[in-house]
Amino acid sequence: MVTFEPEQVAAAGFDWTAVVDYSKRTALAPPLTQYELPGITLEDHQGVPVAVVPLWHALVTATFEFPAEDRTALATAQQRITRALSEIEQVYPLEPGGIFIQVAYGLGYFRDRLPEALTDEYMPRSTLAGTEGAWAVIDSIRYPMDPPELILESNEICFHFKSDYRQHIEDAIHALFEPEEQSLNGIPAVNAYIGDQVQVTSIRRGFAGRNMPKLMGERLGIAGAERIPAGSMLFLGFTSSHLHGLAAGNLPSFETLPGYTDQRPGSYFAGGTAMHLSHIALDLERWYQFGRKERLDRMFHPRRTDADEVLSVDQSPGSTTFREQRDADAATYKLVGHNEQMQYLSRVGADTTTAYGEQVEKGTVFFLRQDFDTIENPFGLWTDGEVSSEPRAAVHFVGMGPSAQHYEKMRLEMDSQDLSRRHGLAEDAVGFTKILHTTHRQNFLLPPRAHRSCPLAELL
Ligand code: HEM
Repeated sequence: MVTFEPEQVAAAGFDWTAVVDYSKRTALAPPLTQYELPGITLEDHQGVPVAVVPLWHALVTATFEFPAEDRTALATAQQRITRALSEIEQVYPLEPGGIFIQVAYGLGYFRDRLPEALTDEYMPRSTLAGTEGAWAVIDSIRYPMDPPELILESNEICFHFKSDYRQHIEDAIHALFEPEEQSLNGIPAVNAYIGDQVQVTSIRRGFAGRNMPKLMGERLGIAGAERIPAGSMLFLGFTSSHLHGLAAGNLPSFETLPGYTDQRPGSYFAGGTAMHLSHIALDLERWYQFGRKERLDRMFHPRRTDADEVLSVDQSPGSTTFREQRDADAATYKLVGHNEQMQYLSRVGADTTTAYGEQVEKGTVFFLRQDFDTIENPFGLWTDGEVSSEPRAAVHFVGMGPSAQHYEKMRLEMDSQDLSRRHGLAEDAVGFTKILHTTHRQNFLLPPRAHRSCPLAELL
């Protein structure tokens, strides 16, 4: 068991840059946000630009080990997490070949561990009509089509790791959370261990890469996987990392677009975002009973005519569907696609100037998805429930936008209760919601990079 004295920790750092200075190999300045991923490349899929996201992903959720009222311990935890992350980032560069680590915080962290005077002053607040003044991160609700057994989680902290190399993620997880001696890329880790600060509640691993869902699904004998089109990046067959379907730059931050929160450039949480995390099991057999055109309609909208072999469907601003088209599709076709359920809320409805003075064209997406597939059932490790060894196709949905209120509006549209009533839509004509079985949900605040370690604790 490794024990730490603060002085020892401070003295024990090593200077990896003296061995290999990655910043000289790839001069990438760390972004102000945690969610922007430097070094992501693009592929051309028959004229449609697609982001090649890191292949391997893992989420580690946890609660803090010390009592909520122990503010000294919180200040120590902040320093320890800062040192741990910086040690890992000295070894692995901030790019897909190295590692990305995003750290988000659950509401319990802000409610229970910080004085009200502090959160009153600093927490981002919604300015959306009807929710003005509420924190811009609120508890997740149960959605109408969620199964009754869905768990609303209350983790205090969530780490999201991404890398093209699974071993980098495994090394980082071992070094951070396991007390035995650990190494990072062969170098003994001395500052990375924070396992005495947090109690890990789950470890969730997965992948996002061309043909991976089919390969994994078939090898593990998941029913329906044999029908996944070859080359698909996700279980449902279509690409979901279109350049034009993912928010660019800092568009998902609390402060960037007018109308969502009271944050401004320079606010403590500027560069932060409201993050939703859910685990969604997929009924592949049912999905692939639909023919290709039925799947295209349900994923996008019923007027699409893309050829059968097209997995990446044009998502440029000009292709955006707004509310009028969605309503017209519901009336005419008695069916709406997932993409059109979302887009009138995930994209700007008019040419807009951001808080940073940038012009954003009507139809530009500002919600960011970093979801990935998994075959774990439900997780690799879960302290509060049972883990089954039977593989199951699922998605870890990680989505980021300007407020949890905005997310709630958008996610409610996936269930489209109102629209279904008005147009008499059958359950399996409402996007693909009918084949989803969501097991876990939680809203988090993902702070800007500068405050990724125990936000606000330095102000105690
Ligand atoms: C669980 C399975 C899910 C799958 C397989 C899935 C798949 C997709 C695909 C293929 C697209 C279109 C391609 C693209 O824009 O790159 C898309 C768009 C989108 N999805 Fe999902 N999705 C899932 C769940 C969700 C959830 C839970 C939300 C939360 C509300 C969501 C929000 C969105 C949004 C906002 C867009 C449109 C972005 C835009 O073009 O403006 N998705 N999804």
